[in-house]
Amino acid sequence: MNTKSRIDHLRKEISRHNELYYGKENPEISDSEYDNLVKELEELEKAHPKFASKESPTQKVSGTISSSFAQVKHAVPMLSLDNTYSEEEVGKWHERTVKAINKLQLTNNNYGNVAVNPSPLAGEGLAKQEGEGSAVNSTLHTSLSKLQLTIEPKVDGIGVSLTYIKGELTVGATRGDGETGEDITENIKTLRDIPRRLKVLTPPAFFELRGEVYIDKDDFIKLNEEITADGADKFANPRNAAAGSLRQKDSHITSKRKLRFFVHSFGKVEGMHFERYSDFLQYCQKCGFELQKDFKVCATLQEIFDFTDKMTKKREALPYEIDGLVIKVNSLKLQKEIGYTNKSPRWAIAYKFAAKQATTQLEKVRVQVGRTGIVTPSAILKPVELAGVTISHATLHNFDEVERLGVNEGDTVLLERAGDVIPKIVKVVKKENEGFFKPPKRCPSCDSEIVKEKEDEVAYRCINPECPAQFKRHLIHFVSRNAMDIEGLGEAVIDQLLEKKKLKSLADIYHLKFDDFLELELFKEKKANNLMSAIVESKKRPLSRLLFAIGIRHVGEKVSEIIAKRFKNIEAVFDASVDDFTRINEIGEVLAMSLKEFFDKPEVRHMIDSLKAAGVNMLEPETQNAGSQFEGKTFVLTGELPNYTREQATEIIKSLGGKTSSSVSKKTDYVLAGAEAGSKLEKANKLGVKVIDEAEFKELIK
Ligand code: IVH
Repeated sequence: MNTKSRIDHLRKEISRHNELYYGKENPEISDSEYDNLVKELEELEKAHPKFASKESPTQKVSGTISSSFAQVKHAVPMLSLDNTYSEEEVGKWHERTVKAINKLQLTNNNYGNVAVNPSPLAGEGLAKQEGEGSAVNSTLHTSLSKLQLTIEPKVDGIGVSLTYIKGELTVGATRGDGETGEDITENIKTLRDIPRRLKVLTPPAFFELRGEVYIDKDDFIKLNEEITADGADKFANPRNAAAGSLRQKDSHITSKRKLRFFVHSFGKVEGMHFERYSDFLQYCQKCGFELQKDFKVCATLQEIFDFTDKMTKKREALPYEIDGLVIKVNSLKLQKEIGYTNKSPRWAIAYKFAAKQATTQLEKVRVQVGRTGIVTPSAILKPVELAGVTISHATLHNFDEVERLGVNEGDTVLLERAGDVIPKIVKVVKKENEGFFKPPKRCPSCDSEIVKEKEDEVAYRCINPECPAQFKRHLIHFVSRNAMDIEGLGEAVIDQLLEKKKLKSLADIYHLKFDDFLELELFKEKKANNLMSAIVESKKRPLSRLLFAIGIRHVGEKVSEIIAKRFKNIEAVFDASVDDFTRINEIGEVLAMSLKEFFDKPEVRHMIDSLKAAGVNMLEPETQNAGSQFEGKTFVLTGELPNYTREQATEIIKSLGGKTSSSVSKKTDYVLAGAEAGSKLEKANKLGVKVIDEAEFKELIK
């Protein structure tokens, strides 16, 4: 493709993605993939100015205006922000900004120079601030003044403009294409975070502020549940949910959606003057708007980076989605001087987090057989960068999900990674093959028939008890940390042992010999010895672990422990009737019957006998009753404890079987004394009663 065709192609693609993102609220690619297209186009246009065009998407604010709403012309254009994805780029923006300010000073000699690396001076939040831009100094980079920057989260919502005339909310509008937006006043008025009237005595004559309408993550999940129950399609993310809810023709619908609002900028203002952006925010707070809690005025780049580090960690814990942070020059006078490009202010920059969404090709659907025979599909992907890591696998959950997504091998899919969870496929963005990937008819491991045990069940299963894939999963579970905990016996070792036919049953683990390990890849004496010791050690695990390890359907760690504590040894478990099981609180009829059925199977008896013969423990050790540690002990509390209230300490003592008394006597076992303990402490010392402080108390209750 020659340069001109590439430019044309990029312009077309970017416009198409704009329409999908803003018009249809149904993007096909992630923000960073979009930004890359724009960046490539910008670079090509810069290198080949002869192809420049005013119509290029690089020259316009992206966004669309729907004909379903009346139009509102913005008095001051609503611009976009320039994006960066690294500290290095933020550093370059900072350097450019400082240079621009210094250049302005040379011409105006008006603001004082701005140091690239000034010493810290700003404070946290909106509380402490100092002036800037007043000192005059003639030498570049030897400044007295400091460039104050602000930093705050970039909320993943939809930008809106609110116009207040004499304090009354008169117009609410979307950004639209930046010049003209959609009139959504009635919908905006339903938001609880947006005051209909500014809560100040003398509001400005004209006050157009701007901010982000968004929805909390929890409310987004609930909303999707509600609308899908009504048969509508899910929103792909909170941003789309906020945009879709705000652009309803019926404001009753908007009023039911829990939309929220943060203020982040302003347009036309008359009858009010602010020195700094932080002053503007403070004023908005007085007017009745909520501000973002995470906001900082910074004087150095280091402070900015410290804040970005903090927020990168905090991001997942925030109640709403953010896709980055916005750094702004605090002085409004400097903002005005530094100015704008066609699309965005030069005085601000977005520092975007690594994308949580990306598109890639689904190369293959891998079908895996689990421990209980359930056959699950998983996606093998063309490797792609997502949230800072390369992703080549994604979960597909089950075959119903594959059908719901309509996904097949070869299709291009949109991936998402939220929090630390395994990435999932959100939707198909381009079909390569018709239909969706169907569940296999036969087990990929043993070629037995795959069945759905019950029609209403989601799971497809291989019901061959001898299936090698199931056995391998069974082994992996048996040796896992919460089961028999055999360190060093991982999947790779199990694979080799299976291949060498050393493992045909669970009990075979206990018949492995030192030499068997020496034959394996990367095994030397020390590693073989360690593994042998780990296997021997695992024989001592309590019955509860063994019950969990043998993989009884619907029996997790908790239930295994309850059964083991109740019956104490495996023979009693074999002898238990359905009634004996149901007598346990946590076990219902269905589980009781399935337990009985399980323990009646001859192969289960055989498996347990072989494990027993190999020396595996079959008993649950007696444990001290956790609630009786302080049985018969009397405590007297006196003084103030650093971390517990008196009620909390009393509750702990009682929960461990002890009592508390208000007076000290010879019968008192402990006096728990805090700060400023008085006569009770004296008496305890006199009577020789043991006195403990909070740290010693904590030791006792450990
Ligand atoms: S400042 C000239 N601050 O991000 C634009 N914008 O991608 C000044 N946004 O159009 C906007 N959080 O709708 C600003 N803390 C924040 C923001 C924020 C979200 C949106 C805003 C803007 C878009 C640009």
